[in-house]
Amino acid sequence: MPTRVGWWVAVLVGLVGGILVALPAAVSAATSGSSAGTTSGAAGPTPAVDEWVWITLGEDAFASAERVVAQVPPFALLERVGEERGVVLTRLPNAAIPLLAERIHEELRRCGGFVVHASRAEADAEMARLAAPERAPEALPFAIDRPDWVVPLATAVDESQILATITALSTNFTNRYHLHPSGTASAHWIRDLWAGYAAARPEVTVALWEHPVAVTPQPSVVLTIPGTTLPDEVVILGGHQDSTRSGCSTNPACVAPGADDDASGIATLSEVIRVVLDSSFQPQRTVQFMAYAAEEVGLRGSGAIAQAYLDAGSQVVAVFQQDMTGYKGSAEDIALISDFTDPELNAFTGGLLSAYQPELLWTTTACNYGCSDHASWNTRGFRASFAFESRFGQHNGAIHGANDTVATLGGSAAHAAKFARLAVAFAVEASLDLVPGIFADDFESGDSSAWTMTASEP
Ligand code: BES
Ligand code: ZN
Repeated sequence: MPTRVGWWVAVLVGLVGGILVALPAAVSAATSGSSAGTTSGAAGPTPAVDEWVWITLGEDAFASAERVVAQVPPFALLERVGEERGVVLTRLPNAAIPLLAERIHEELRRCGGFVVHASRAEADAEMARLAAPERAPEALPFAIDRPDWVVPLATAVDESQILATITALSTNFTNRYHLHPSGTASAHWIRDLWAGYAAARPEVTVALWEHPVAVTPQPSVVLTIPGTTLPDEVVILGGHQDSTRSGCSTNPACVAPGADDDASGIATLSEVIRVVLDSSFQPQRTVQFMAYAAEEVGLRGSGAIAQAYLDAGSQVVAVFQQDMTGYKGSAEDIALISDFTDPELNAFTGGLLSAYQPELLWTTTACNYGCSDHASWNTRGFRASFAFESRFGQHNGAIHGANDTVATLGGSAAHAAKFARLAVAFAVEASLDLVPGIFADDFESGDSSAWTMTASEP
């Protein structure tokens, strides 16, 4: 399957030239922990295949990497330069990257699973974020106490609207790869769709978030509903707008429809926007919907945005990710991703399911790597939660291929509609302050111990 790694390899051989990477220059062995050699900057030379690259990866993937590196010249021993929360920092010959991607896919049955860093400094920053002390569990500043808003808005969710948006994205923009012209055209289309939903709401803004071209030419799209009484606190619901296809994305003729990954997430969010803006609902906190650029090449759009919010000291109180909502691959309807997410917020999300869609079965599952944009927020210290279409490994096997189409979703958005109802509940409840007394049962608490992160009973 295509991964960020494939793209990085493409970058390294010069597709995007030297604009992005600042890799350590060639070193003769992997035994030194220092950033030996010089780095190539913006105008620097394209790194040669004999150079070494800094990567972070999980313990299980590290074992795969050790075997790969022993088989590729110069047959080095892999060094653990650092280790935090099950993530190892190491470096390996650039030439070993394609084989490592292949091995991780074969041995661990997942795409990617390691992050190639542009420099030692960037790798160190990632390790430092992981090393930051775990926050003591704190009460969330919101609760599950507004059925008066959630129930009517969730009832207004229209599956056919979701299907129409997935169909439009996956058939009119069949390659939304971040470097493809159609990847920019589709960003504009999403902006226009959302602006249409906001047409009667002058306080709502819809904007393209242009990234530095070295990050990606594809803009992210951001819709903002300003909060009434707590406007400085922000609730973010996001998904990625780009698509990819193994070994072909950069070919202009390549078809990478990405119906499930992730037109489904964008369509789900679009329906939440439509329903919320079609009502008189007004959030107390600012609510932002984001269609992130360039997720498939290393969480670039969300990474840049989360970094900007961190740098600005923004009070992002909750982030909800929607990536792949269209395919029912498990007995359970929804799986909450348990890693690179926040335990309290996950308990809240589980509580929303139990309170508002008690007919659904849900469970928890792990990606075991930062598999989507929630990780961009989580690694920067923001609370994130991610509701996924199935248990990991039982998800849509057609993603990153030509068959990631509406047909593979059974021609239906029934599964995605469950996520839209959940996301409506999330947007409403997280954006309104605690109101004791409205919802007289156990859910009414900002204390997440009142909710459960345990799967629902079959
Ligand atoms: N939607 C996928 C993530 C995913 C795939 C989650 C399968 C759970 C099961 C996402 O778009 C993706 O492809 N992510 C990359 C990693 C990213 C850091 C480039 C991947 O999984 O290879
Ligand atoms: Zn993907």
